[in-house]
Amino acid sequence: MPSLTSVLHARFAHALEQAFGEEFKRRDPVIRSSQFADLQANVALPLAKELKSKPRDVAATIVEHLDLAGVCETPEISGPGFINLTFTPEWLAENLAAGAEAADSAAAGSEAGRTVVIDYSAPNVAKEMHVGHLRTTVVGDALARTHEFVGNTVIRQNHIGDWGTPFGMLIEHLLDVGIESSTAEEISDNPNAFYQAARVKFDSDEEFATRSRARVVALQSGDAPTLELWETLVGFSRTYFNRIYSTLDVSLTDADLAGESMYNDYLAEVCAELEEKGLARISDGALCVFPEGFTGREGEPLPLIIRKSDGGYGYATTDLAAVRYRAQTLGADRALYVVGAPQALHFEMVFAIARAAGWLPDHLRPEHVKIGNVLGSDGKILRTRSGAPLRLAELLDEAIERAKVTLQESSAEFSAAEEAEVAAIVGIGAVKYADLSVAHDTSYTFDLDRMLAPIGNTAPYLQYAGARIRSILRKAEGAAATGGDATPGESAAAWQDAPIHLGEAAERDLALAILGFDDVVAEVAAGSQPHKLCTYLFDLAQAFTTFYEQCPVLIADTAEKRASRLRLSQIVLATLEKGLGILGIRVPERM
Ligand code: ARG
Repeated sequence: MPSLTSVLHARFAHALEQAFGEEFKRRDPVIRSSQFADLQANVALPLAKELKSKPRDVAATIVEHLDLAGVCETPEISGPGFINLTFTPEWLAENLAAGAEAADSAAAGSEAGRTVVIDYSAPNVAKEMHVGHLRTTVVGDALARTHEFVGNTVIRQNHIGDWGTPFGMLIEHLLDVGIESSTAEEISDNPNAFYQAARVKFDSDEEFATRSRARVVALQSGDAPTLELWETLVGFSRTYFNRIYSTLDVSLTDADLAGESMYNDYLAEVCAELEEKGLARISDGALCVFPEGFTGREGEPLPLIIRKSDGGYGYATTDLAAVRYRAQTLGADRALYVVGAPQALHFEMVFAIARAAGWLPDHLRPEHVKIGNVLGSDGKILRTRSGAPLRLAELLDEAIERAKVTLQESSAEFSAAEEAEVAAIVGIGAVKYADLSVAHDTSYTFDLDRMLAPIGNTAPYLQYAGARIRSILRKAEGAAATGGDATPGESAAAWQDAPIHLGEAAERDLALAILGFDDVVAEVAAGSQPHKLCTYLFDLAQAFTTFYEQCPVLIADTAEKRASRLRLSQIVLATLEKGLGILGIRVPERM
Protein backbone atom coordinates (compact mmCIF):
# COMPACT_ATOMS: atom_id res chain seq x y z
CA MET A 1 0.00 0.00 0.00
CA PRO A 2 1.24 3.52 -0.59
CA SER A 3 2.41 4.78 2.75
CA LEU A 4 0.98 8.04 4.02
CA THR A 5 4.19 9.95 3.58
CA SER A 6 5.32 8.48 0.26
CA VAL A 7 2.16 9.77 -1.41
CA LEU A 8 2.75 13.23 0.02
CA HIS A 9 6.45 13.17 -0.84
CA ALA A 10 5.66 12.62 -4.48
CA ARG A 11 3.12 15.46 -4.58
CA PHE A 12 5.44 17.85 -2.76
CA ALA A 13 8.34 17.02 -5.05
CA HIS A 14 6.23 18.10 -7.97
CA ALA A 15 5.01 21.28 -6.27
CA LEU A 16 8.49 22.30 -5.13
CA GLU A 17 9.84 21.84 -8.61
CA GLN A 18 7.01 23.86 -10.16
CA ALA A 19 7.32 26.62 -7.59
CA PHE A 20 11.08 27.02 -7.24
CA GLY A 21 12.75 25.02 -9.98
CA GLU A 22 14.32 21.63 -10.63
CA GLU A 23 16.90 21.81 -7.84
CA PHE A 24 14.16 21.96 -5.19
CA LYS A 25 12.49 18.76 -6.32
CA ARG A 26 14.27 16.52 -3.85
CA ARG A 27 13.80 18.75 -0.82
CA ASP A 28 12.47 16.93 2.22
CA PRO A 29 8.95 18.30 2.80
CA VAL A 30 9.54 17.72 6.54
CA ILE A 31 6.26 15.96 7.21
CA ARG A 32 5.43 15.60 10.89
CA SER A 33 2.44 14.70 13.00
CA SER A 34 0.18 17.59 13.81
CA GLN A 35 -2.24 18.63 16.51
CA PHE A 36 -4.55 20.37 14.08
CA ALA A 37 -4.58 18.05 11.08
CA ASP A 38 -3.52 14.52 10.16
CA LEU A 39 -0.03 15.69 9.29
CA GLN A 40 1.81 18.91 8.63
CA ALA A 41 4.60 19.82 6.23
CA ASN A 42 7.18 22.21 7.64
CA VAL A 43 9.38 22.66 4.59
CA ALA A 44 8.44 26.34 4.15
CA LEU A 45 10.44 27.32 7.23
CA PRO A 46 13.93 26.20 6.16
CA LEU A 47 13.14 27.16 2.59
CA ALA A 48 12.17 30.72 3.53
CA LYS A 49 15.55 31.26 5.13
CA GLU A 50 17.27 30.10 2.01
CA LEU A 51 15.06 32.13 -0.33
CA LYS A 52 15.13 35.14 2.03
CA SER A 53 11.38 35.30 1.99
CA LYS A 54 8.56 35.03 4.58
CA PRO A 55 7.74 31.42 5.56
CA ARG A 56 4.01 32.00 5.19
CA ASP A 57 4.54 33.36 1.67
CA VAL A 58 6.69 30.38 0.76
CA ALA A 59 4.03 28.07 2.18
CA ALA A 60 1.38 29.85 0.08
CA THR A 61 3.48 29.45 -3.07
CA ILE A 62 3.92 25.74 -2.37
CA VAL A 63 0.20 25.26 -1.72
CA GLU A 64 -0.59 27.05 -4.98
CA HIS A 65 1.35 24.39 -6.87
CA LEU A 66 0.40 21.49 -4.67
CA ASP A 67 -2.01 19.08 -6.32
CA LEU A 68 -3.59 16.95 -3.63
CA ALA A 69 -6.81 16.29 -5.46
CA GLY A 70 -8.29 13.00 -4.34
CA VAL A 71 -5.81 12.69 -1.45
CA CYS A 72 -6.29 15.60 0.93
CA GLU A 73 -8.74 18.39 1.62
CA THR A 74 -7.52 21.86 0.60
CA PRO A 75 -4.37 22.40 2.71
CA GLU A 76 -4.38 25.18 5.29
CA ILE A 77 -1.46 27.31 6.33
CA SER A 78 -1.09 27.76 10.05
CA GLY A 79 1.32 29.27 12.56
CA PRO A 80 4.59 30.53 11.13
CA GLY A 81 4.06 28.65 7.85
CA PHE A 82 3.07 25.06 8.52
CA ILE A 83 1.05 23.38 5.80
CA ASN A 84 -1.72 21.39 7.43
CA LEU A 85 -2.77 18.24 5.65
CA THR A 86 -6.00 16.33 6.15
CA PHE A 87 -6.70 13.22 4.13
CA THR A 88 -10.11 12.78 2.56
CA PRO A 89 -12.11 9.89 4.04
CA GLU A 90 -12.46 8.45 0.52
CA TRP A 91 -8.71 8.31 0.01
CA LEU A 92 -8.20 6.70 3.41
CA ALA A 93 -10.87 4.10 2.74
CA GLU A 94 -9.55 3.31 -0.71
CA ASN A 95 -6.02 2.80 0.56
CA LEU A 96 -7.13 0.63 3.43
CA ALA A 97 -8.73 -1.65 0.90
CA ALA A 98 -5.67 -1.68 -1.34
CA GLY A 99 -3.42 -2.32 1.64
CA ALA A 100 -5.51 -5.23 2.81
CA GLU A 101 -4.91 -6.90 -0.54
CA ALA A 102 -1.12 -6.50 -0.64
CA ALA A 103 -0.64 -7.78 2.87
CA ASP A 104 2.73 -9.48 2.98
CA SER A 105 5.16 -6.83 1.92
CA ALA A 106 5.57 -3.11 2.09
CA ALA A 107 5.49 -0.77 -0.87
CA ALA A 108 8.97 -0.78 -2.35
CA GLY A 109 10.34 2.32 -0.66
CA SER A 110 13.76 3.84 -0.51
CA GLU A 111 14.83 1.10 1.89
CA ALA A 112 14.23 -1.69 -0.60
CA GLY A 113 16.36 -3.69 -2.99
CA ARG A 114 19.57 -3.79 -1.02
CA THR A 115 21.71 -6.58 0.36
CA VAL A 116 21.72 -6.40 4.13
CA VAL A 117 24.12 -8.61 6.07
CA ILE A 118 23.08 -9.09 9.69
CA ASP A 119 25.38 -10.54 12.33
CA TYR A 120 23.30 -11.67 15.27
CA SER A 121 22.89 -14.23 18.05
CA ALA A 122 26.53 -15.41 17.91
CA PRO A 123 26.72 -17.62 21.02
CA ASN A 124 29.85 -19.57 21.88
CA VAL A 125 30.43 -23.29 21.37
CA ALA A 126 30.47 -25.44 24.52
CA LYS A 127 29.13 -22.52 26.52
CA GLU A 128 25.70 -21.64 27.79
CA MET A 129 23.78 -18.98 25.90
CA HIS A 130 23.00 -16.18 28.31
CA VAL A 131 20.35 -13.46 28.39
CA GLY A 132 22.71 -11.18 26.46
CA HIS A 133 22.64 -13.67 23.59
CA LEU A 134 18.89 -13.86 23.98
CA ARG A 135 18.64 -10.18 23.27
CA THR A 136 21.01 -10.11 20.30
CA THR A 137 19.12 -13.09 18.88
CA VAL A 138 15.68 -11.55 19.30
CA VAL A 139 16.59 -8.05 18.10
CA GLY A 140 18.67 -9.37 15.20
CA ASP A 141 15.88 -11.68 14.10
CA ALA A 142 13.35 -8.83 14.15
CA LEU A 143 15.69 -6.71 12.03
CA ALA A 144 16.22 -9.57 9.58
CA ARG A 145 12.45 -9.97 9.19
CA THR A 146 12.00 -6.20 8.86
CA HIS A 147 14.48 -6.00 6.00
CA GLU A 148 12.91 -8.95 4.25
CA PHE A 149 9.53 -7.30 4.62
CA VAL A 150 10.65 -4.03 3.02
CA GLY A 151 12.15 -5.94 0.10
CA ASN A 152 15.81 -6.29 0.91
CA THR A 153 17.92 -9.40 0.48
CA VAL A 154 18.99 -10.48 3.94
CA ILE A 155 22.08 -12.56 4.64
CA ARG A 156 22.10 -13.81 8.20
CA GLN A 157 25.54 -14.40 9.71
CA ASN A 158 25.59 -16.29 12.98
CA HIS A 159 29.16 -15.51 14.02
CA ILE A 160 29.41 -18.24 16.65
CA GLY A 161 32.51 -18.54 18.80
CA ASP A 162 33.78 -21.85 17.46
CA TRP A 163 37.52 -21.25 17.32
CA GLY A 164 40.46 -20.22 19.46
CA THR A 165 42.53 -21.32 22.42
CA PRO A 166 39.76 -22.77 24.64
CA PHE A 167 39.24 -25.52 22.07
CA GLY A 168 42.50 -27.16 23.07
CA MET A 169 41.27 -27.86 26.57
CA LEU A 170 37.73 -28.64 25.40
CA ILE A 171 38.96 -31.28 22.95
CA GLU A 172 41.32 -32.86 25.53
CA HIS A 173 38.50 -32.95 28.06
CA LEU A 174 36.24 -34.52 25.46
CA LEU A 175 38.83 -37.26 24.93
CA ASP A 176 39.18 -37.76 28.70
CA VAL A 177 35.46 -38.23 29.32
CA GLY A 178 34.91 -40.15 26.07
CA ILE A 179 33.21 -38.93 22.92
CA GLU A 180 30.27 -41.26 23.44
CA SER A 181 29.88 -40.57 27.14
CA SER A 182 26.88 -38.94 28.71
CA THR A 183 29.17 -36.19 29.99
CA ALA A 184 30.00 -35.29 26.40
CA GLU A 185 26.37 -35.52 25.41
CA GLU A 186 25.56 -32.98 28.11
CA ILE A 187 27.08 -30.22 25.98
CA SER A 188 23.97 -30.31 23.87
CA ASP A 189 21.83 -29.67 26.92
CA ASN A 190 23.73 -27.95 29.71
CA PRO A 191 27.12 -26.94 28.34
CA ASN A 192 28.39 -24.96 31.33
CA ALA A 193 29.24 -28.02 33.41
CA PHE A 194 31.48 -29.39 30.68
CA TYR A 195 33.21 -26.08 30.09
CA GLN A 196 33.78 -25.49 33.79
CA ALA A 197 35.24 -28.97 34.30
CA ALA A 198 37.68 -28.43 31.43
CA ARG A 199 38.64 -25.04 32.84
CA VAL A 200 39.27 -26.39 36.35
CA LYS A 201 41.46 -29.18 34.98
CA PHE A 202 43.38 -26.73 32.81
CA ASP A 203 44.12 -24.50 35.79
CA SER A 204 45.13 -27.29 38.17
CA ASP A 205 46.63 -30.08 36.07
CA GLU A 206 49.94 -29.21 34.36
CA GLU A 207 49.95 -32.30 32.17
CA PHE A 208 46.43 -31.54 30.94
CA ALA A 209 47.37 -27.93 30.27
CA THR A 210 50.39 -29.00 28.20
CA ARG A 211 48.27 -31.43 26.16
CA SER A 212 45.68 -28.69 25.64
CA ARG A 213 48.21 -26.21 24.29
CA ALA A 214 49.59 -28.80 21.89
CA ARG A 215 46.03 -29.52 20.79
CA VAL A 216 45.43 -25.86 19.90
CA VAL A 217 48.48 -25.95 17.65
CA ALA A 218 47.22 -29.15 16.02
CA LEU A 219 43.79 -27.63 15.50
CA GLN A 220 45.11 -24.46 13.93
CA SER A 221 47.42 -26.33 11.61
CA GLY A 222 44.49 -28.38 10.33
CA ASP A 223 45.35 -31.78 11.83
CA ALA A 224 42.58 -34.08 10.56
CA PRO A 225 41.80 -36.17 13.69
CA THR A 226 41.79 -32.96 15.77
CA LEU A 227 39.41 -31.29 13.35
CA GLU A 228 37.12 -34.28 13.64
CA LEU A 229 37.03 -33.96 17.44
CA TRP A 230 36.39 -30.26 17.08
CA GLU A 231 33.49 -31.02 14.70
CA THR A 232 31.99 -33.28 17.35
CA LEU A 233 32.07 -30.48 19.91
CA VAL A 234 30.55 -27.98 17.49
CA GLY A 235 27.88 -30.54 16.59
CA PHE A 236 26.80 -30.90 20.22
CA SER A 237 26.52 -27.14 20.54
CA ARG A 238 24.63 -26.84 17.29
CA THR A 239 22.01 -29.17 18.71
CA TYR A 240 21.82 -26.99 21.80
CA PHE A 241 21.57 -23.69 19.84
CA ASN A 242 18.93 -25.10 17.53
CA ARG A 243 16.78 -26.21 20.43
CA ILE A 244 16.86 -22.69 21.87
CA TYR A 245 16.19 -21.17 18.43
CA SER A 246 13.23 -23.43 17.93
CA THR A 247 11.80 -22.57 21.38
CA LEU A 248 12.36 -18.90 20.63
CA ASP A 249 10.78 -19.23 17.18
CA VAL A 250 13.63 -17.37 15.49
CA SER A 251 14.48 -17.79 11.83
CA LEU A 252 18.14 -18.86 12.16
CA THR A 253 19.11 -22.18 10.59
CA ASP A 254 22.36 -24.12 10.14
CA ALA A 255 22.72 -22.40 6.78
CA ASP A 256 23.23 -19.11 8.62
CA LEU A 257 26.17 -20.37 10.68
CA ALA A 258 29.25 -18.37 9.81
CA GLY A 259 31.43 -18.84 12.86
CA GLU A 260 34.88 -17.59 13.68
CA SER A 261 36.43 -20.80 12.30
CA MET A 262 35.25 -19.85 8.83
CA TYR A 263 37.87 -17.09 8.67
CA ASN A 264 40.84 -19.17 9.85
CA ASP A 265 42.33 -19.46 6.38
CA TYR A 266 42.26 -15.71 5.82
CA LEU A 267 43.84 -14.45 9.03
CA ALA A 268 47.45 -14.59 7.84
CA GLU A 269 46.43 -12.92 4.60
CA VAL A 270 44.59 -10.13 6.42
CA CYS A 271 47.67 -9.46 8.54
CA ALA A 272 49.97 -9.50 5.54
CA GLU A 273 47.73 -7.11 3.64
CA LEU A 274 47.58 -4.67 6.53
CA GLU A 275 51.34 -4.79 6.88
CA GLU A 276 51.82 -4.25 3.18
CA LYS A 277 49.54 -1.24 3.22
CA GLY A 278 51.60 0.20 6.01
CA LEU A 279 48.75 0.01 8.48
CA ALA A 280 50.20 -2.65 10.80
CA ARG A 281 53.51 -2.79 12.60
CA ILE A 282 55.22 -4.87 15.26
CA SER A 283 54.96 -3.46 18.76
CA ASP A 284 56.27 -5.44 21.76
CA GLY A 285 56.47 -8.52 19.57
CA ALA A 286 52.81 -8.35 18.54
CA LEU A 287 51.51 -7.17 15.18
CA CYS A 288 49.31 -4.13 15.82
CA VAL A 289 47.25 -1.62 13.93
CA PHE A 290 46.95 1.86 15.41
CA PRO A 291 43.86 3.26 13.66
CA GLU A 292 43.75 7.02 13.36
CA GLY A 293 41.78 8.89 15.96
CA PHE A 294 41.87 6.20 18.66
CA THR A 295 43.80 7.06 21.78
CA GLY A 296 44.17 5.66 25.27
CA ARG A 297 43.86 7.43 28.59
CA GLU A 298 47.11 9.35 28.26
CA GLY A 299 46.46 10.26 24.65
CA GLU A 300 48.74 7.50 23.40
CA PRO A 301 47.74 5.74 20.15
CA LEU A 302 45.50 2.75 20.83
CA PRO A 303 46.49 -0.57 19.23
CA LEU A 304 44.30 -3.33 17.91
CA ILE A 305 46.40 -6.47 18.24
CA ILE A 306 46.00 -8.61 15.14
CA ARG A 307 48.73 -11.19 15.77
CA LYS A 308 49.95 -12.00 19.25
CA SER A 309 53.65 -12.35 19.97
CA ASP A 310 53.22 -16.16 20.02
CA GLY A 311 51.87 -15.98 16.46
CA GLY A 312 48.23 -16.62 17.43
CA TYR A 313 45.30 -14.66 16.05
CA GLY A 314 42.33 -13.50 18.06
CA TYR A 315 38.81 -12.13 17.98
CA ALA A 316 39.86 -8.84 16.34
CA THR A 317 41.66 -10.44 13.39
CA THR A 318 38.65 -12.66 12.79
CA ASP A 319 36.35 -9.64 12.73
CA LEU A 320 38.64 -7.89 10.24
CA ALA A 321 38.44 -10.93 7.98
CA ALA A 322 34.68 -11.04 8.51
CA VAL A 323 34.04 -7.42 7.60
CA ARG A 324 36.16 -7.79 4.47
CA TYR A 325 34.21 -10.93 3.52
CA ARG A 326 30.86 -9.23 4.08
CA ALA A 327 31.82 -6.22 2.00
CA GLN A 328 33.62 -7.96 -0.81
CA THR A 329 32.30 -11.50 -1.08
CA LEU A 330 28.74 -11.03 0.15
CA GLY A 331 28.40 -7.60 -1.48
CA ALA A 332 26.74 -5.98 1.51
CA ASP A 333 25.06 -2.61 1.03
CA ARG A 334 24.49 -2.54 4.75
CA ALA A 335 26.27 -4.59 7.40
CA LEU A 336 24.61 -4.72 10.82
CA TYR A 337 26.33 -6.11 13.90
CA VAL A 338 23.75 -6.84 16.56
CA VAL A 339 26.15 -7.27 19.46
CA GLY A 340 26.47 -6.17 23.09
CA ALA A 341 27.20 -2.48 23.70
CA PRO A 342 30.46 -3.20 25.59
CA GLN A 343 32.03 -4.24 22.30
CA ALA A 344 31.56 -0.74 20.83
CA LEU A 345 35.23 0.23 20.81
CA HIS A 346 36.23 -3.08 19.26
CA PHE A 347 33.87 -2.52 16.34
CA GLU A 348 34.75 1.13 15.90
CA MET A 349 38.39 0.13 15.54
CA VAL A 350 37.65 -2.81 13.23
CA PHE A 351 35.46 -0.65 10.98
CA ALA A 352 38.02 2.17 10.89
CA ILE A 353 40.78 -0.24 9.91
CA ALA A 354 38.62 -1.86 7.24
CA ARG A 355 37.90 1.59 5.81
CA ALA A 356 41.60 2.55 5.86
CA ALA A 357 42.51 -0.73 4.18
CA GLY A 358 40.12 0.07 1.34
CA TRP A 359 37.92 -2.95 1.92
CA LEU A 360 34.66 -1.03 2.13
CA PRO A 361 32.87 0.55 -0.82
CA ASP A 362 32.03 4.20 -0.14
CA HIS A 363 28.35 3.59 0.51
CA LEU A 364 28.92 0.86 3.09
CA ARG A 365 29.08 1.96 6.70
CA PRO A 366 29.07 -1.07 8.96
CA GLU A 367 26.75 -0.41 11.88
CA HIS A 368 27.05 -1.70 15.41
CA VAL A 369 23.50 -2.14 16.71
CA LYS A 370 24.45 -1.88 20.35
CA ILE A 371 22.58 -4.18 22.68
CA GLY A 372 22.14 -3.07 26.28
CA ASN A 373 22.33 -5.28 29.34
CA VAL A 374 19.55 -7.37 30.79
CA LEU A 375 19.46 -6.76 34.53
CA GLY A 376 18.13 -8.67 37.50
CA SER A 377 15.86 -7.12 40.12
CA ASP A 378 19.00 -6.05 42.01
CA GLY A 379 19.98 -3.81 39.08
CA LYS A 380 23.01 -5.97 38.28
CA ILE A 381 23.53 -8.15 35.21
CA LEU A 382 21.07 -11.01 35.47
CA ARG A 383 22.59 -14.07 37.15
CA THR A 384 21.40 -16.95 39.26
CA ARG A 385 21.58 -16.62 43.01
CA SER A 386 24.84 -18.56 43.08
CA GLY A 387 26.30 -15.97 40.73
CA ALA A 388 26.43 -18.31 37.75
CA PRO A 389 25.10 -17.06 34.43
CA LEU A 390 21.44 -17.87 34.10
CA ARG A 391 20.46 -20.83 31.95
CA LEU A 392 18.49 -19.49 29.06
CA ALA A 393 16.56 -22.70 28.52
CA GLU A 394 15.29 -22.61 32.11
CA LEU A 395 14.32 -18.99 31.82
CA LEU A 396 12.25 -19.68 28.72
CA ASP A 397 10.60 -22.72 30.31
CA GLU A 398 9.62 -20.57 33.27
CA ALA A 399 8.09 -17.95 30.98
CA ILE A 400 6.01 -20.63 29.27
CA GLU A 401 4.95 -22.13 32.63
CA ARG A 402 3.86 -18.74 33.93
CA ALA A 403 1.93 -18.05 30.74
CA LYS A 404 0.15 -21.35 31.26
CA VAL A 405 -0.91 -20.27 34.74
CA THR A 406 -2.38 -17.02 33.45
CA LEU A 407 -4.25 -18.95 30.75
CA GLN A 408 -5.76 -21.24 33.37
CA GLU A 409 -7.06 -18.14 35.12
CA SER A 410 -8.70 -16.86 31.94
CA SER A 411 -12.23 -17.79 30.94
CA ALA A 412 -11.28 -19.58 27.72
CA GLU A 413 -11.44 -23.38 27.83
CA PHE A 414 -8.45 -25.13 26.30
CA SER A 415 -7.57 -28.74 25.57
CA ALA A 416 -4.18 -29.73 26.98
CA ALA A 417 -2.54 -29.56 23.56
CA GLU A 418 -4.05 -26.18 22.80
CA GLU A 419 -3.04 -24.87 26.20
CA ALA A 420 0.58 -25.91 25.64
CA GLU A 421 0.62 -24.27 22.23
CA VAL A 422 -0.93 -21.00 23.37
CA ALA A 423 1.28 -20.88 26.50
CA ALA A 424 4.37 -21.15 24.29
CA ILE A 425 3.14 -18.41 21.95
CA VAL A 426 2.30 -16.12 24.87
CA GLY A 427 5.27 -16.91 27.13
CA ILE A 428 7.91 -16.63 24.41
CA GLY A 429 6.12 -13.68 22.83
CA ALA A 430 6.23 -11.88 26.17
CA VAL A 431 9.97 -12.41 26.59
CA LYS A 432 10.77 -11.38 23.04
CA TYR A 433 8.55 -8.33 23.16
CA ALA A 434 10.22 -7.14 26.37
CA ASP A 435 13.54 -7.24 24.51
CA LEU A 436 12.12 -5.42 21.52
CA SER A 437 9.94 -2.75 23.08
CA VAL A 438 12.75 -0.82 24.73
CA ALA A 439 15.46 0.99 22.78
CA HIS A 440 18.04 -1.69 21.95
CA ASP A 441 20.93 0.19 23.50
CA THR A 442 19.37 0.71 26.92
CA SER A 443 19.43 -1.85 29.69
CA TYR A 444 16.23 -3.18 31.19
CA THR A 445 15.18 -5.33 34.11
CA PHE A 446 14.11 -8.89 33.39
CA ASP A 447 10.76 -9.23 35.11
CA LEU A 448 8.42 -12.00 33.99
CA ASP A 449 5.43 -10.50 35.83
CA ARG A 450 5.70 -7.28 33.90
CA MET A 451 6.40 -9.03 30.58
CA LEU A 452 3.31 -11.22 30.97
CA ALA A 453 1.01 -8.43 32.15
CA PRO A 454 -2.23 -8.38 30.15
CA ILE A 455 -2.28 -4.58 30.10
CA GLY A 456 0.37 -2.11 29.06
CA ASN A 457 2.87 -2.26 26.23
CA THR A 458 3.34 -6.05 26.36
CA ALA A 459 3.00 -8.95 23.95
CA PRO A 460 0.04 -10.48 25.81
CA TYR A 461 -1.87 -7.19 25.53
CA LEU A 462 -1.38 -7.13 21.76
CA GLN A 463 -2.02 -10.84 21.39
CA TYR A 464 -5.19 -10.46 23.40
CA ALA A 465 -6.28 -7.56 21.17
CA GLY A 466 -5.73 -9.82 18.15
CA ALA A 467 -7.54 -12.78 19.70
CA ARG A 468 -10.45 -10.51 20.61
CA ILE A 469 -10.83 -9.31 17.02
CA ARG A 470 -10.73 -12.93 15.91
CA SER A 471 -13.53 -13.69 18.28
CA ILE A 472 -15.61 -10.77 16.95
CA LEU A 473 -15.08 -11.96 13.39
CA ARG A 474 -15.95 -15.53 14.37
CA LYS A 475 -19.19 -14.29 15.92
CA ALA A 476 -20.00 -12.32 12.78
CA GLU A 477 -19.29 -15.34 10.62
CA GLY A 478 -21.37 -17.54 12.87
CA ALA A 479 -24.22 -15.08 12.71
CA ALA A 480 -23.89 -14.89 8.96
CA ALA A 481 -23.94 -18.65 8.64
CA THR A 482 -27.00 -19.13 10.84
CA GLY A 483 -28.71 -15.93 9.84
CA GLY A 484 -28.62 -15.01 13.56
CA ASP A 485 -28.54 -11.34 14.38
CA ALA A 486 -27.15 -10.47 10.96
CA THR A 487 -29.05 -9.04 8.07
CA PRO A 488 -30.60 -11.90 6.13
CA GLY A 489 -28.49 -12.92 3.17
CA GLU A 490 -25.29 -11.47 4.57
CA SER A 491 -22.32 -13.76 4.32
CA ALA A 492 -18.78 -13.50 5.61
CA ALA A 493 -17.54 -12.94 2.07
CA ALA A 494 -19.87 -9.97 1.72
CA TRP A 495 -18.29 -7.96 4.53
CA GLN A 496 -14.80 -9.03 3.62
CA ASP A 497 -15.12 -6.87 0.49
CA ALA A 498 -17.50 -4.32 1.99
CA PRO A 499 -16.95 -0.64 1.26
CA ILE A 500 -15.37 1.16 4.19
CA HIS A 501 -17.08 4.26 5.57
CA LEU A 502 -15.17 6.46 7.96
CA GLY A 503 -18.00 8.41 9.53
CA GLU A 504 -16.98 8.58 13.19
CA ALA A 505 -13.83 10.24 14.51
CA ALA A 506 -12.73 6.95 16.07
CA GLU A 507 -13.04 5.21 12.72
CA ARG A 508 -10.97 7.89 11.03
CA ASP A 509 -8.29 7.73 13.73
CA LEU A 510 -8.16 3.98 13.39
CA ALA A 511 -7.77 4.24 9.61
CA LEU A 512 -4.92 6.70 10.01
CA ALA A 513 -3.27 4.41 12.54
CA ILE A 514 -3.48 1.45 10.17
CA LEU A 515 -2.07 3.43 7.26
CA GLY A 516 0.93 4.50 9.32
CA PHE A 517 2.25 0.94 9.21
CA ASP A 518 4.55 1.06 6.18
CA ASP A 519 6.17 4.29 7.31
CA VAL A 520 7.01 2.79 10.67
CA VAL A 521 8.44 -0.38 9.17
CA ALA A 522 10.58 1.69 6.80
CA GLU A 523 11.77 3.70 9.78
CA VAL A 524 12.66 0.55 11.70
CA ALA A 525 14.63 -0.71 8.70
CA ALA A 526 16.46 2.58 8.25
CA GLY A 527 17.35 3.13 11.90
CA SER A 528 17.43 -0.44 13.31
CA GLN A 529 14.90 0.40 16.01
CA PRO A 530 12.30 -2.33 16.46
CA HIS A 531 10.91 -0.56 19.53
CA LYS A 532 9.27 1.94 17.19
CA LEU A 533 7.22 -0.84 15.69
CA CYS A 534 6.23 -1.95 19.20
CA THR A 535 5.06 1.56 20.08
CA TYR A 536 3.15 1.69 16.82
CA LEU A 537 1.39 -1.62 17.46
CA PHE A 538 0.51 -0.59 20.99
CA ASP A 539 -1.02 2.66 19.67
CA LEU A 540 -2.88 0.72 17.00
CA ALA A 541 -4.35 -1.67 19.58
CA GLN A 542 -5.44 1.30 21.66
CA ALA A 543 -7.00 2.99 18.64
CA PHE A 544 -8.92 -0.22 18.08
CA THR A 545 -10.12 -0.27 21.69
CA THR A 546 -11.39 3.30 21.39
CA PHE A 547 -13.09 2.47 18.11
CA TYR A 548 -14.69 -0.62 19.60
CA GLU A 549 -15.99 1.34 22.59
CA GLN A 550 -17.43 4.13 20.45
CA CYS A 551 -18.61 2.32 17.36
CA PRO A 552 -20.85 -0.72 17.78
CA VAL A 553 -19.64 -3.40 15.39
CA LEU A 554 -21.79 -6.52 15.64
CA ILE A 555 -24.81 -4.46 16.59
CA ALA A 556 -24.22 -1.47 14.31
CA ASP A 557 -27.45 0.28 13.35
CA THR A 558 -27.19 -0.35 9.61
CA ALA A 559 -25.96 -3.33 7.63
CA GLU A 560 -23.51 -1.07 5.74
CA LYS A 561 -21.95 0.19 8.96
CA ARG A 562 -21.75 -3.29 10.38
CA ALA A 563 -20.00 -4.61 7.27
CA SER A 564 -17.66 -1.63 7.10
CA ARG A 565 -16.68 -1.98 10.75
CA LEU A 566 -16.17 -5.71 10.49
CA ARG A 567 -13.90 -5.11 7.56
CA LEU A 568 -12.02 -2.41 9.45
CA SER A 569 -11.58 -4.81 12.38
CA GLN A 570 -10.28 -7.45 10.05
CA ILE A 571 -7.69 -5.06 8.61
CA VAL A 572 -6.59 -4.13 12.14
CA LEU A 573 -6.12 -7.82 12.89
CA ALA A 574 -4.11 -8.32 9.70
CA THR A 575 -1.95 -5.30 10.55
CA LEU A 576 -1.37 -6.48 14.11
CA GLU A 577 -0.40 -9.92 12.87
CA LYS A 578 1.86 -8.50 10.21
CA GLY A 579 3.60 -6.24 12.72
CA LEU A 580 3.98 -8.89 15.38
CA GLY A 581 5.12 -11.30 12.66
CA ILE A 582 7.94 -8.92 11.77
CA LEU A 583 8.91 -8.98 15.43
CA GLY A 584 8.83 -12.78 15.38
CA ILE A 585 5.72 -13.02 17.58
CA ARG A 586 2.55 -14.92 16.80
CA VAL A 587 -1.07 -14.26 17.69
CA PRO A 588 -2.95 -17.28 19.07
CA GLU A 589 -6.40 -18.21 17.74
CA ARG A 590 -7.87 -17.75 21.22
CA MET A 591 -6.57 -16.56 24.54
N1 ARG B 1 30.57 -14.62 20.30
C1 ARG B 1 30.61 -13.25 20.72
C2 ARG B 1 30.12 -13.11 22.16
O1 ARG B 1 29.51 -14.01 22.69
C3 ARG B 1 29.78 -12.35 19.86
C4 ARG B 1 30.20 -12.23 18.42
C5 ARG B 1 29.55 -11.08 17.75
N2 ARG B 1 29.89 -10.92 16.38
C6 ARG B 1 31.08 -10.52 15.91
N3 ARG B 1 31.23 -10.40 14.63
N4 ARG B 1 32.08 -10.25 16.71
O2 ARG B 1 30.33 -12.07 22.75
